[in-house]
Amino acid sequence: MENILDKAYFICADPAWDRICPVFKKEFDISKKIKNATLYISALGVYEAKINGSRVGKRLMTPGWTAYEKRLQYQTYDVTNLLSDGENKIEIGAGHGWFASRIGTPKTVTGIYGTYPAVIAVLKTEYTDGSDETICTDDTWKAARSEVLVSQIYDGETVDARIIPQFSENARIFNADRSILIPDEGEDIIETERIAPRSIIHTPAGETVIDFGQNLTGCLEFNVTGKAGHTVYVGHAEILDKNGNFYTENYRSAKALITYTLKEGSQTYKARYTFYGFRYVRLTDWPEEVKPENFTAIVIHSDMKRTGWFKCGNGKVNRLFENVIWGQRGNFLDVPTDCPQRDERLGWTGDAEVFCRTANINFDTEKFFTKWLRDMKATQSPQGIIPYVVPFVFDRRPDGSYECSAAWGDAATVCPWEIYKAFGSKDLLCEMYPMMEKWVEYIHSCPGEEYLWQNGRHFGDWLGMDAPAGSYKGSTDEELIASAYFYLSTCLLIKAGKVLGYDMVHYEEMAEKIKAAYQKTYFNGERLISDTQTAYVITIYFGLAGDKKAAFGKRLVELIEAFGDRLQTGFVGTPYLLDTLTEIGRADKAYTLLLQEKFPSWLFSVNMGATTIWEHWDGLREDGSVWSKDMNSFNHYAYGSVASWLYGTAAGITPDEDVPAYKHFFIRPIPDKRLGFVKARIDSRSGTIVSEWEYENDKIRYSFIIPAGTTATVCLNGTDKEYGAGKYTVWGDA
Ligand code: BGC
Repeated sequence: MENILDKAYFICADPAWDRICPVFKKEFDISKKIKNATLYISALGVYEAKINGSRVGKRLMTPGWTAYEKRLQYQTYDVTNLLSDGENKIEIGAGHGWFASRIGTPKTVTGIYGTYPAVIAVLKTEYTDGSDETICTDDTWKAARSEVLVSQIYDGETVDARIIPQFSENARIFNADRSILIPDEGEDIIETERIAPRSIIHTPAGETVIDFGQNLTGCLEFNVTGKAGHTVYVGHAEILDKNGNFYTENYRSAKALITYTLKEGSQTYKARYTFYGFRYVRLTDWPEEVKPENFTAIVIHSDMKRTGWFKCGNGKVNRLFENVIWGQRGNFLDVPTDCPQRDERLGWTGDAEVFCRTANINFDTEKFFTKWLRDMKATQSPQGIIPYVVPFVFDRRPDGSYECSAAWGDAATVCPWEIYKAFGSKDLLCEMYPMMEKWVEYIHSCPGEEYLWQNGRHFGDWLGMDAPAGSYKGSTDEELIASAYFYLSTCLLIKAGKVLGYDMVHYEEMAEKIKAAYQKTYFNGERLISDTQTAYVITIYFGLAGDKKAAFGKRLVELIEAFGDRLQTGFVGTPYLLDTLTEIGRADKAYTLLLQEKFPSWLFSVNMGATTIWEHWDGLREDGSVWSKDMNSFNHYAYGSVASWLYGTAAGITPDEDVPAYKHFFIRPIPDKRLGFVKARIDSRSGTIVSEWEYENDKIRYSFIIPAGTTATVCLNGTDKEYGAGKYTVWGDA
């Protein structure tokens, strides 16, 4: 298909400039009356375009992060108002971005896609006389070193504000494949909030630290006045250590540092081509009094529409819910990432798999996830393997394929299905069906018993609290987890196929065989071979328990009680733990876990002052010490998956997968006196849904709203009843 950018070339600067971020410029005259003008633009790296000194658009980190080997987005801007009669100039600055920064672990020194950035653009101007003109990037453009000397995703920016770009050289043609260019698919990445400092701290180590009161993703904007040539350093951190000192060890090798050399006088700086995850900043060699009004934290993420709200009578649960929202805001920056601060910030598939359901209620994520799923589909190996991370950044296997793990690769089935339930697009399901099928077939082809997933290398119940000493993996048998996911993915494939009108008999038979093999291999009388919370959770929740459901449910509760009414689950068990307890009729126990304040629990982190969801249940211990410096992000959304239970059980709102996008849905709240009241609202594609309840003496007052054009099955006092659109209040017994 013809692409307007085929007329242009990718251009770069002299490769010897190495890490310096270049700026490219073209001057041109306009003598006719402009009807309209459009800029088409992309980069291998990230770009910022200006026309006649004004920034083009408000989008940041463009063109965004995709599977660059196969897909590179370009953006289209209406720039009619930026052009004028006579002399004009367009400047395009470029940073290394995800393309040319070091990304991923094991540590790379330079970018894995490239080592320096390149840009491509076409400016098309139409005149009122019917003629038009295009200006395309080529080697007639000029190139200059910008004031940004280094800009790296993990390491931050080094800026010398004294530098005024000298356009003394021509740009060079950079040979790159233009056929990978695709029109923009993702949500705009923009500034969404500005936060003032909460306090300025002088730490015991004698450092000056600003606390913004909220762990966030974005950048610092500062104003500083000083002498030309003076250099200041600004570090970023999520926590203070137990002595109250600035702590960065959990960033691992990511420097996340601003090194800024002043020009003379007053000046303002904020990151150009990178972002940071932080709550605190440390100022070193600040040349003047540190005044709060000179500092602002800018929150940056993909601009998704907020759609979900939850509030209850317990302030700590409300803070937990806010932390979930902040976790999503912090990690939905074009790609769903594990964390926004350390030397990862990667599209870990497992993390998105466990959080997807919650994400889809909090925000309208369809566009965001569609782009990412297309990258996943483009990345899937011919054998059907879905790698650990999308976009892929690690070493490949010798045959060009990837390592993969159960519960991570299953994002290929779980995410499309969850998105279908929430937003109802059959087209997306149809587009993703081949990827879902290839993933299931890949598992089926793995060596070992045909209907189990044996002999793989998996992350297991990652970070489970029952991990043996020295391991990150919980003690649940990895093959049990893998085989349970084999079953889940097959079941989701069947559901998707049925929606699309396909004959799914073959997979229905396969699912039965997986179930039989699972029960034969992993059942051990009234127990499972792994006598762990996570094993019972996934066996019950995925529908594998058969006639042992009651026995396994009883055992799950016993294990929770034996551990002092606390959870031991990791990435695999946690997302479905409360749902499983609800399913076996023990929502009371689910509330007990939700409200548990002793470690490990959700509210433990809240009591410790968390403002986002932690990666590890005891990221910070009661005495303020850290559990580990290696795997200790304070902004990891995975355990935030608990919010789908708040919406789905506490407030009781769930979509109906047979009539998706909440065209028909369920309101089946299970109240608990310990919460006092609940108010939830979902601005679904079918309208605003509200479910509320409140204890009043020995009664419960339920109120709910069913939007026009929808119906709901409502269960308040033990029996389901159909309701049409309207606003209702119903009294029930406490
Ligand atoms: C990431 C996780 C990810 C995991 C895989 C970690 O380093 O931060 O969130 O899912 O690796 O086990």
